[in-house]
Amino acid sequence: MIARAPLLFPLPGNETMAERLALALDAEVGEVAMRDFPDGETYVRLLTDPAGRQVGIVGTLARPNDKILPLLFLAGAARQLGAARTGIIAAYLAYMRQDARFHPGEAITARLFADVISRAADWLITIDPHLHRIAELDTIYRVPATAVHVAELLGAWIVGNVSQPLIIGPDEESRQWVSGVAAAASAPFVVLSKVRKGDEDVDISLPDLTGYQGYTPVLVDDIISSGHTMLAALRQLRRATAAGAPPVCVAVHALFDAGVHDRLVAAGAARIVTTNTIPHTSNGIDVVPALATALRDQFAAAADRGGALNERAP
Ligand code: R5P
Repeated sequence: MIARAPLLFPLPGNETMAERLALALDAEVGEVAMRDFPDGETYVRLLTDPAGRQVGIVGTLARPNDKILPLLFLAGAARQLGAARTGIIAAYLAYMRQDARFHPGEAITARLFADVISRAADWLITIDPHLHRIAELDTIYRVPATAVHVAELLGAWIVGNVSQPLIIGPDEESRQWVSGVAAAASAPFVVLSKVRKGDEDVDISLPDLTGYQGYTPVLVDDIISSGHTMLAALRQLRRATAAGAPPVCVAVHALFDAGVHDRLVAAGAARIVTTNTIPHTSNGIDVVPALATALRDQFAAAADRGGALNERAP
């Protein structure tokens, strides 16, 4: 019996990521026909038969609401057509930031979203999800959920591109990423204090940086979205260290609301670099090899668990 290669189906816009993962894994990219009916409902047809095969749906989930139903329908179609196991590779995992009830009556959407995905798929792989008040994905996901950490990749980029870096986290939440990045870059780090007063209202205060003259500040965060966190940190830094090297901004997930990149440049960022979990002009750090490694482990573990009967060609 010949083991059949895993099959990856991309959500629209994720074709390049799926092809690169398939190349790294000797997997096949499946063909999908997906379109909207005139009434706005979604039509999905898998043109590559998933029966008996391990399937991964490749779909990064920035600005997720329009992507969720297509994602659920793709995964559901693979299951309906007899896929052995069907998982989701979401380089950016949405709905991780509303991880608590901050005001009475609020939905904790991180948990609700995890519930939806846990019903739709057999496993999930993502890159550096926003784990803060929820410490582990397993706390909210009921299927195996792997968080791939890319601090080493960020650290390596900094080593190769910034001289004498001082790694700076804009808030206490960033300590977990910043400490790993600093270790990978063999650089010192500090963490600033942030008070978020609203979606668009952020106050940041700096510690005493007099001991770091001559260093290049490198602001590191997991996400740049509205940009208010990065902008507030950047402006404070420029005020405090105007004579020093302009700061470099590094982030994992390039959500970037409209105009944010330009505002960071205008506020004095020397350079803005992100990973390619979300396609953006600032992408300069490639996560595909790290994602491929996690995916290879996932497919190998599924085969070892004895799903093998279904997962082999007749
Ligand atoms: C904080 O919770 C996160 O680590 C980021 O600092 C935050 O999500 C960035 O969001 P924004 O760009 O909207 O300030």
